[in-house]
Amino acid sequence: MQIIHTISELRTALKNQVSIAFVPTMGNLHAGHIKLVEMAKQHATCVVVSIFVNPLQFGKNEDLASYPRTLEADCDKLKQIGANFVFAPNVQEMYPDFDGNDLNQSMTITPSIIASELCGAVRPGHFAGVATVVMKLFNIVQPNVAVFGKKDYQQLFIIRELVRQFNLNVEIIGVDTMREVDGLAMSSRNGYLTPMQRGEAPRLHKALKLVAEAIQKGNRDFTAIEQQTTQFLTQLGWIVDYISIRSAKTLLSPNAHDHTLIVLGAAKLGSTRLIDNLEIPS
Ligand code: PAJ
Repeated sequence: MQIIHTISELRTALKNQVSIAFVPTMGNLHAGHIKLVEMAKQHATCVVVSIFVNPLQFGKNEDLASYPRTLEADCDKLKQIGANFVFAPNVQEMYPDFDGNDLNQSMTITPSIIASELCGAVRPGHFAGVATVVMKLFNIVQPNVAVFGKKDYQQLFIIRELVRQFNLNVEIIGVDTMREVDGLAMSSRNGYLTPMQRGEAPRLHKALKLVAEAIQKGNRDFTAIEQQTTQFLTQLGWIVDYISIRSAKTLLSPNAHDHTLIVLGAAKLGSTRLIDNLEIPS
């Protein structure tokens, strides 16, 4: 496995590859990321994993500075499972006009309107930052296939739109959320939780499961279900950003005849923000 830090070296190394599967990450890899790499291995002869904490997708008061950076341990894991290349650029390499203070990325992708809802409503500019860095990474790596997790369902949806609307020649594969035994979706941010918060954290998944059960039993009063679930979590000390039942196909609010549904949730325990979602089989 080769670890590469510059775009030009990566381009040279990838020149003669037959097929490339790409897994973009921000590092601090856990079993969820590893599952994406395993999926990537099934789709191409060469697997590239990027590790880059992208400043453009963090808000001013978010955790950019404290986001865990564990490059050495990440590379050990990736070597063990047989990734071929790790691309770990610094900020200057990804944002050539970075002046030590401002990224000066004057051209960015404006994602579709859905990017201002759900997580986008609480994190303005977040998905523009994601779409822009993913576009840049796709142009650098030029993969045949790219693998993303369904844990970030809205992100996956926006990436699919990016590919569709900009005619990118990349197949996008979505991988099911990897969970801890108690149901908590694996996330680099779980490491921020205190032991007490860690005990409470699986409740988000449990609450989404209750929503799914209610809908499967025939309850179609989505607003009431969302409100009750929000109230339930709030009483237990969560600060709820949203609990939202949507069409899994469009991510818009479902109409009466919509049968492929998904419930998405984002909520904070203390200052740690967790997200999760559950597809609801009809
Ligand atoms: P990051 O949070 O590191 O996630 C990298 C990939 O791992 C994403 O596709 C995410 O959905 C997936 N992932 C995270 N937790 C998962 C889990 N428990 N099960 C399955 N997959 C999981 O998402 C990003 O980085 C960034 O926004 C990025 C796309 C790299 C752009 O900067």
